[in-house]
Amino acid sequence: VIAAAIVPAAGRGERLGPGGPKALRELAGLPLLVHAVRALGAARAVAEVVVVAPGDAVDEVRALMRGDTVLQSEDVRVLVVAGGRTRQESVRLGLAALGDDVDVVLVHDAARPLVPVDLVDRVVQAVRTGADAVIPVLPLADTVKRVDEAGRVDATIDRSTLRAVQTPQGFARAVLEEAHHAASTDADDEATAATDDAGLVERLGTTVHAVPGAEEAFKVTRPIDLLLAEAVLSRRRAGGARDGR
Ligand code: CTP
Ligand code: MG
Repeated sequence: VIAAAIVPAAGRGERLGPGGPKALRELAGLPLLVHAVRALGAARAVAEVVVVAPGDAVDEVRALMRGDTVLQSEDVRVLVVAGGRTRQESVRLGLAALGDDVDVVLVHDAARPLVPVDLVDRVVQAVRTGADAVIPVLPLADTVKRVDEAGRVDATIDRSTLRAVQTPQGFARAVLEEAHHAASTDADDEATAATDDAGLVERLGTTVHAVPGAEEAFKVTRPIDLLLAEAVLSRRRAGGARDGR
């Protein structure tokens, strides 16, 4: 079994505010994308990483990958392709670049730079042992309510059945390809495109399995998330306990 990871990194990062594409924003002096690709490369099972870069930053991203000595020391092939208008479209473009020998595919957001290696391994292992689709999940911290357009609460959702979904999500390659192919007419439209890959697999009627996620796999979305990421990194560098997985 050969596993590859597709890393969608072509988003603009609007919720993070001004400062260029999110994947290239720095955390402890290194782009988020480099942290994320290093984490994937450190997983023994991952033989190839396809980075899906902003269309105008493909050369810059290629140079970043070639220039990173930590990555060069890992036994992993890194490819860089240009992304699309939606995340779904970017992942589809990444799929098209996978090597012929790959049979397990992870999809991991560049915006989750601190994903622990053991989470990557857990997802690969679940696909290897027979799951078609695997997602890491965590329980929700907040109570969740549905609110109408006028701002009135119309329901409190039973939180115990809900989960927040992370990446890497893992798939049998043929299943992910079929799911993206079936959804290709929706891919370019922000309103109809899927925000995760498992959502497309669900539309096929294929069972998606959940495994425990990791707090450190949180997505850098808003400015406060960068502060949290800096804090997690400094704790790691100080050799602190790596709890919060
Ligand atoms: N992504 C992508 N191509 C797009 C949109 C998003 O490859 N057209 C990637 C992002 O780079 C990110 C991941 O998908 O790594 C998750 O998306 P999100 O967190 O929403 O990132 P952005 O779309 O960049 O942020 P925002 O929605 O705030 O603009
Ligand atoms: Mg987005």
